[in-house]
Amino acid sequence: MVVSNREPYVHQFKKGKVEYIRGAGGVITALDPVMQASNGLWVAQGSGDADRKVTDKDGKLRVPPDNPSYTLKRVWLTKEEENGYYFGYSNEAIWPMCHLTFQRPVFREEDWKHYEGVNQKFADAILNEIGDKKAFIWIQDYHLCLLPRYLKEKAGSQLIIAHFWHIPWPSHEVFRICPQRKEILEGLLANDLLGFHIRYHCDNFLTAVDRELESKIDRERFSVIKGGHETLIRPYPISVDFEGISSAAASESVQKIQEALVEEFHLENQTVLLGIDRIDYTKGIPERMLAVDRLLEKVPDLKEKITLFQVGEISRLHIPRYKALNDEINALVEQINWKHSTDNWRPIILVRRHLNFQELLALHRHARVCLVSSLHDGMNLVAKEFVSSRIDNKGALVLSEFTGASRELTDAILVNPYDRENISEGIYVALNLPEDEEQKRMVKMREIVQNNNIFRWAGKIISELLKFEFKE
Ligand code: F6P
Repeated sequence: MVVSNREPYVHQFKKGKVEYIRGAGGVITALDPVMQASNGLWVAQGSGDADRKVTDKDGKLRVPPDNPSYTLKRVWLTKEEENGYYFGYSNEAIWPMCHLTFQRPVFREEDWKHYEGVNQKFADAILNEIGDKKAFIWIQDYHLCLLPRYLKEKAGSQLIIAHFWHIPWPSHEVFRICPQRKEILEGLLANDLLGFHIRYHCDNFLTAVDRELESKIDRERFSVIKGGHETLIRPYPISVDFEGISSAAASESVQKIQEALVEEFHLENQTVLLGIDRIDYTKGIPERMLAVDRLLEKVPDLKEKITLFQVGEISRLHIPRYKALNDEINALVEQINWKHSTDNWRPIILVRRHLNFQELLALHRHARVCLVSSLHDGMNLVAKEFVSSRIDNKGALVLSEFTGASRELTDAILVNPYDRENISEGIYVALNLPEDEEQKRMVKMREIVQNNNIFRWAGKIISELLKFEFKE
């Protein structure tokens, strides 16, 4: 059983009809192919306005709707719960605390209460589902820190639980500002296995436990023993479905979509710099736009030749910081386009509409350069999707050194997103890479993603889980 906040398929009413889209973000990109291959149960928050219409009385339905291969069970939250648990504690407290982007976290007591309540609600939904059976539970991310403890308290002997933390774990200097730090650590230590993207995050977590709780830390085994229960702490760099993406990218339908997009956005004679992100202050979107602005100032010859094609999926808009970022990005696009545009050309195209998976692959295929300028990112799967799409072995990746992906994709052009000159130089280098050099780098990056693909990632976690024994 996989548990996450975000659901993989969202049903919405469109012109009186029910349509579905795939949920946004790294958790879905990573876990959906794994679930399609394994026919399990995925428990997540119902979030679409037509979700209730398509589920049975237990909140369940088979997905993906076009090719059902696993079951999705939706947990329903009230507006107040969603506000406190999701917008409030998860995304105004934990998210900024874990990403070093100088956004001050907000810890509100009432958000914490909802966070506790919703974690309990997920626990009830799961316990109800398993009855007296034994189960392997695989929890995703920072929305559900307390869930492992709630589950183990009620049904410890029936459950083996793994938890994967999809975002960075901060240094203790940062984590110790959290008023609920002990509860969060105790919740997570009810897991049997706790995974992070990189070793550095594991170390930070162990230091936090060391400073905050009475427990035994085994640095050799990389584990914590608390109250007689052991939790293994392991790095598992997440990935994407390399083969699935490569073969979809090679399909005729993606090629047709590519042609249609090129025509729709007049990209025929353009060298495309591509950004695909949720609109989030951790992603460095203004920084990237300003770097393109700088590049055009320094190399005016590039005018009318390059286009930054930015796909921005609206995200968490009820949070003031996200609304402000959205406004800031709109204003920047306006300002930079006004400054450099000519009669037939503008340097930035910002696309707000939802693009489906095939459309995103078509863009990856078309781009000359993919720009990932996150200020801080656990992994960043857009970088790995780009590489997986490049069956032609072409294209260059400009990648922030503050992403988990930069540890693996060392053949990208690594940049410091806080340094505008450095990003613009990175783009310039990418645009001017000799063909054989570009190809050499792409081949190496493709090998890396092919080897550490999403199935290998999931396989490592699941085979570690299978070593645990149920307690009698
Ligand atoms: O990967 C981190 C993450 O927060 C996921 O948990 C989430 O699915 C994704 O980013 C997108 O964020 P949200 O679900 O808040 O739109």
